[in-house]
Amino acid sequence: MDMKALILSGGRGTRLRPLTYTGAKQLVPVVNKPILWYGIEQIVAAGITDIGIIVSPETGEAIRQATGDGTQFGAQITYILQSSPDGLAHAVKVAQPFLQDSPFLMYLGDNLIRDRLTSFVDQFVKQSLDALILLKQVPNPTAFGVAVLNDQGQVTQLLEKPQNPPSNLALVGVYLFSPTIHTVIESLKPSNRGELEITDAIQALVNADKAVMAQPLQGWWLDTGKKDDLLAANQIILDETPGSEIAGHIDEATQISGRVRVGANSQVINSTIRGPVAIGQNCHIENCFVGSYSSIADGVRMVDVEMDHSVVLEGAVIEELHQRIVDSLIGRRARLVHSPKRPKASRFMIGDDCVLELT
Ligand code: DAU
Repeated sequence: MDMKALILSGGRGTRLRPLTYTGAKQLVPVVNKPILWYGIEQIVAAGITDIGIIVSPETGEAIRQATGDGTQFGAQITYILQSSPDGLAHAVKVAQPFLQDSPFLMYLGDNLIRDRLTSFVDQFVKQSLDALILLKQVPNPTAFGVAVLNDQGQVTQLLEKPQNPPSNLALVGVYLFSPTIHTVIESLKPSNRGELEITDAIQALVNADKAVMAQPLQGWWLDTGKKDDLLAANQIILDETPGSEIAGHIDEATQISGRVRVGANSQVINSTIRGPVAIGQNCHIENCFVGSYSSIADGVRMVDVEMDHSVVLEGAVIEELHQRIVDSLIGRRARLVHSPKRPKASRFMIGDDCVLELT
């Protein structure tokens, strides 16, 4: 069967502000690789290579430039413009000319899951379902779509971000649909928040007695919308990445332990790097301590810095801080510099919505 995939990579991405004022949240890197790419790799590993990606007018070009036509993933990618973020079901509507009558896997481009998608696709095909959703128990169901199942495991009710959740089973951002979904989306009305909700579309399938089933997600799942989620994702992926790989230059005074990757044209001078750590290309790291679970993107300069469990994005500069940086997320091209000795005052230019905890 010619299954297609639809990745939703449009939307506004307000929750990772200020990082996503200027960029797409799906391109925020986890261990120096955009979140979106993990999803593409998962889909290709499940044998689906005809992939449509929903993009918005604001960030579509950046996503297209970074991700390309799919050749690097062994896939064929079609970009589909959604002119405004009017909901997940609206994105499916916009993608209908691409999807045509194919069954498809829908994947939310800001989700990161580690379960393989194959068993999910197999169940959908074998049981000729109209929809298959993935569910995970969560402590905070009000932040998600929530499902209720009957004794046979059939889905009976779906609610989007309910104030009084009837269960703690959250919808993970991976769904499988038969073309019947297009019929129900045709007659869908916008929700209270003005969006065409995919949960309402699935509820309409349930109400019409279509075959809607759920599978529990075994492994971990991260909806990488927030800083702590992103740090957690970074930690898990670093833990699962085997081996060390040093392409750049490490001087003799530098001590490295654990799994460490250093990209091409990067220099590490007189520093201690305690893995797992990933350092990108064209970085300059001098007189630094870089502790476990840190990821440093391309073109970063760090001099006289101690850091642990943090993520530094492209082109950031950090110099001469006399405080250890922990559990931090530092945006692209940010500059964090300090006078060499104990300062009398600090000068800041801090963007809207930034969080600084000086402890
Ligand atoms: O992460 C799982 C949750 O994802 C589910 O439990 C919810 O039922 C589902 O509605 C969704 O909730 P979010 O609030 O996380 O959705 P968000 O607005 O972040 O959008 C998810 C992805 O879809 C993101 O990559 C942006 C993209 N998107 C979103 C909208 C609203 C689009 O491409 N177009 C859109 O119109």
